[in-house]
Order: sequence, then structure tokens, then C-alpha cells
Amino acid sequence: MKLIPLGPGFAAEVRGAGMADIAASSDAYGEVRAAFEEHSVLVFRQQPITDELQVAFSRRFGPLEIAKAASRGEGTPFSILTNVEPDGTLVPPGHKEELRARANQLWHTDSCFKTPPALASVLSGRTVATTGGETEFTSMRLAWERLPEDLRRKLDTAYAWHDYAHSRGKITPHLASERERTTMPPVSWRMRWRNPVNGRDALYIASHTCGIDGMGREEALQLIAELTTLATQPEHVYQHRWQAGDVIMWDNRATMHRGRPWPMDQPRYMIRTTIMATDADGLAAMWPERSAA
Ligand code: OGA
Ligand code: MN
Repeated sequence: MKLIPLGPGFAAEVRGAGMADIAASSDAYGEVRAAFEEHSVLVFRQQPITDELQVAFSRRFGPLEIAKAASRGEGTPFSILTNVEPDGTLVPPGHKEELRARANQLWHTDSCFKTPPALASVLSGRTVATTGGETEFTSMRLAWERLPEDLRRKLDTAYAWHDYAHSRGKITPHLASERERTTMPPVSWRMRWRNPVNGRDALYIASHTCGIDGMGREEALQLIAELTTLATQPEHVYQHRWQAGDVIMWDNRATMHRGRPWPMDQPRYMIRTTIMATDADGLAAMWPERSAA
């Protein structure tokens, strides 16, 4: 296996081992798992993607999330991100899937609004846009390391709240349905996630972050906006231009990502599987009160 560096201080392309090798072999898995812990974003090209292979590969890393209420793919391990209707036609302007795509274009980490939150996401490009539709990543470890010392010390023991309805509300007030709100109430996690393998800390915030314990709402939202800006300056971003057959895996503990717009008259069809974090991934320390209970 060979790693080709891609981004500014993180992200690498994996060559010489594909999803099928990793699904089939513990040794290949061990090598890729180590690369994942180190590089935070792994790109696999020209993969023979099928739903079964994506699940078998993802399952190696831990238990899979079941897609959330009211989403395409609900009740299965597949989150479907697309502007294509099940009958093959493109969604009309203003359709819910288009609004969802716009919400995905806000910098975020996946599933910080869930319990447990996500360790990793695996996104496969089934039909990719020919212009636009890139996915961008930033390292929240490097962002953490760039923080002024006094702010880092303050955030080291801080807890933030995450709410799916909060990020959807930035696009349009009722994008999160009643059912989504009741099945996914706000949750709180520590604002830094320490990787138990290498001890490196990462800032844990997202578009979903709606408050910080002990801080007024406006002040907290202001700080979250400033932290997001600091983390996502263009020179710190890796932009991936998709080719069909690409698969990207990222560490939701240590990165943020966003989709980029594409012309809505072009089909784009992406399938994500999401791996839940466990205590072995450093989750226990994210809410010590909870793990002690
Ligand atoms: C995701 C996501 C962005 C994109 O799959 O979690 O945010 O470019 N995707 O589709
Ligand atoms: Mn996402």
C-alpha cells in the first residue's frame, strides 16, 4: 500500500489496496486504519463500487449508522445525496433534495447531532457532476493547533450543543420536519476530540452547532462562526474533484467538509455509509458524565 499526500497537511490517496482488499483482509484493514488515524481523509480511485462492497468495507471500521428519519435511504445503511428522483428525472428547483444539497454546502462534520456521533463517513461517487459538485475538506486538528493558546485552553473543557434543525434552519425555516426534530433532539459534546491512537486533539464543531455551555446564545454563535472561518481558510482546504468510481473516507472527529454547488440540470448521485463512533474511538471522553452513568 502506498499513500500519496493530497491536502495541506492532511488527506492522502491510497494506492495498491482497494475497498475489496480491505473488506477481505485484516492486514490490509490494519494498514488502512492506521492511515485513516494519521491522515483523516483517504481517497480511493477507480473502485468497483457496489452497495454490498461499500457496506463490507465500511463495516470493518465499526458499526454502521442507519439513515435518519425522513431521508432518502431511511432505515438502510445508505444516505443518498442526489438531485435525481427515484424515477430518473431531475428534481425541480426548490425541491427538498436541492435545499438539502444547499445545507450540505455549509461546513460541517457528519452526525455530531446524533448519539453516538460518527467516527467516519464513506462517500462513493456513483454519478458525478461534470462541473462543480466538488467536496472540500479541512483538518480540525490543524485548526486546533492554530488557535491562540488562551482560546484553546478555554475550549479544552467546553461543551457545545448540536442540532440538525439548527443547520437546516439556515437554509429555510422548516427544512427539518417535525419528525426529524422529535427523533433528533439537540445533543452536547466536548469541543475537542482527542484521538486515542496518537493523542492529537481536534476542534469539534459544525454547521449544526447551536450553543456553548455557560455562554449566551449570540456570543456562542459568534464564536462558532469565527472558529469556522479560522478553520476553513482556502489555504487550509483540500478540494476533491470527483471522478466516477472515486470513494472518499473521512474522519468526522478530525475534519469538517462541505459540498460545492453544481448545475441542477446535471445529475449527481452519491451514496454515503457512516460509521458510528465507539468508546475505543475516544467517544467516552467526549461526555464523561454520560460514560460514567
Ligand atoms: C456527505 C456530504 C458533500 C458532497 O456526504 O456527508 O456532506 O459533496 N457530502 O456531497
Ligand atoms: Mn456531510
